[in-house]
Amino acid sequence: MEEREIYKGLAGVPVDYTAVSKVDPESNSLLYRGYPVQDLAATKSVEEVAWLLWYGELPTPEQLDGLVETERSARALAPNVRRAIDDLPMTSHPMDVVRTAVSVIGANDPDAEDNDPEQNLRKAKHLFAQIPAIVAYDQRRRHGLPLIEPRDDLDYPQNFLYMTFGEEANPEVVDAFRVSMVLYAEHSFNASTFTARVIASTLSDLHSSVVGAIGALKGPLHGGANEAVMETFGQIGTPDKVEEWLDDALARKAKIMGFGHRVYKNGDSRVPTMRAAMERMLDHYDRPDLLEMYERMEKAMGEQKNIKPNLDYPAGPTYHVMGFDTETFTPIFVAARVTGWTAHIMEQLASNALIRPLSVYNGIERRAVPE
Ligand code: SDX
Repeated sequence: MEEREIYKGLAGVPVDYTAVSKVDPESNSLLYRGYPVQDLAATKSVEEVAWLLWYGELPTPEQLDGLVETERSARALAPNVRRAIDDLPMTSHPMDVVRTAVSVIGANDPDAEDNDPEQNLRKAKHLFAQIPAIVAYDQRRRHGLPLIEPRDDLDYPQNFLYMTFGEEANPEVVDAFRVSMVLYAEHSFNASTFTARVIASTLSDLHSSVVGAIGALKGPLHGGANEAVMETFGQIGTPDKVEEWLDDALARKAKIMGFGHRVYKNGDSRVPTMRAAMERMLDHYDRPDLLEMYERMEKAMGEQKNIKPNLDYPAGPTYHVMGFDTETFTPIFVAARVTGWTAHIMEQLASNALIRPLSVYNGIERRAVPE
């Protein structure tokens, strides 16, 4: 067998340049188009960050007004998108519902195959507006609740929460949700973004790239981890059981969801900001038990494995106390990350370079005809 060095999982392998974001494990930092994500989470709206990722600059007041008008007017679901959601069984995973709905939205688009940058920006903004409506409606239908139409007098996070829960959320809750959407928006060549880029590199269409990315994000080693964090807390039951549960899990060589990261090896740069938002929410909803569970697991994982939390760890409890179903958490991640994905899709299309790595054959060689 030919001996070649294999870079399994492409771990540590730079495969292209990107100007969208910089993930730096050395300084434990994350920049979106040059701005520290902490700055953006502290001061910018979801809409402003979306514009920044797509265009490379923060919007002028006029540009922001234009995006807000476009997004607010594009929130309602088309009848066949609602029918597609309604036709899916309640047992289907919400990530499958989002994936299917995005496929229908793409099929509905008369210019779906047009990769002109202006067309793709239009499609990106449309998906940005539509995914909250899909996620909110799917959670409600699973509780036998009717669809709530969007309100164009509410900003992006306010409207997302309104469509899900049917009432205007407390400003402190809206802000914590905004922070989570900013932090989840973009993270360089993570598995789902790289999936989107591979599909875009064949000059396929934007919606196909997003559908592929949704499939990748669903996995528990990636976006699905935020759901798994709450499933873990549910298995543990009470904070006093954390250490015992962890001992058993580690003895089974289980991966503890919400911990570790392929790139950050000394903690995820986004965690302090998300943890602060989580703590505000656990206080707001009076859940000291969840805070104790969070802290005991974090301490035990540090002591036993020296592995630190990633963004999914504080995000899970935050979405839980807000009232989102656990299986809705990763669809929320889709709503945030669709801006990063579409920024990368457009960057990949501009570079116009087919992604096609090599493999080293380690199978057998033989003939099917007599020598
Ligand atoms: C996201 O890439 C991104 O940017 C992703 C993301 C984004 O914004 O797009 O940041 C979002 O996906 C965050 C990650 C969410 N996933 C999880 O929380 C799942 C649990 N985490 C692990 O599966 C793991 O940490 C990975 C997959 C995230 C990263 O693993 P690596 O870099 O491939 O490291 P590894 O699996 O080779 O582990 C190295 C060692 C191993 O021990 P040994 O076998 O060498 O003894 O550390 C151990 C692992 O067993 N380890 C863990 C662990 N993570 C690593 N052990 C227990 N629990 C964990 N969580």
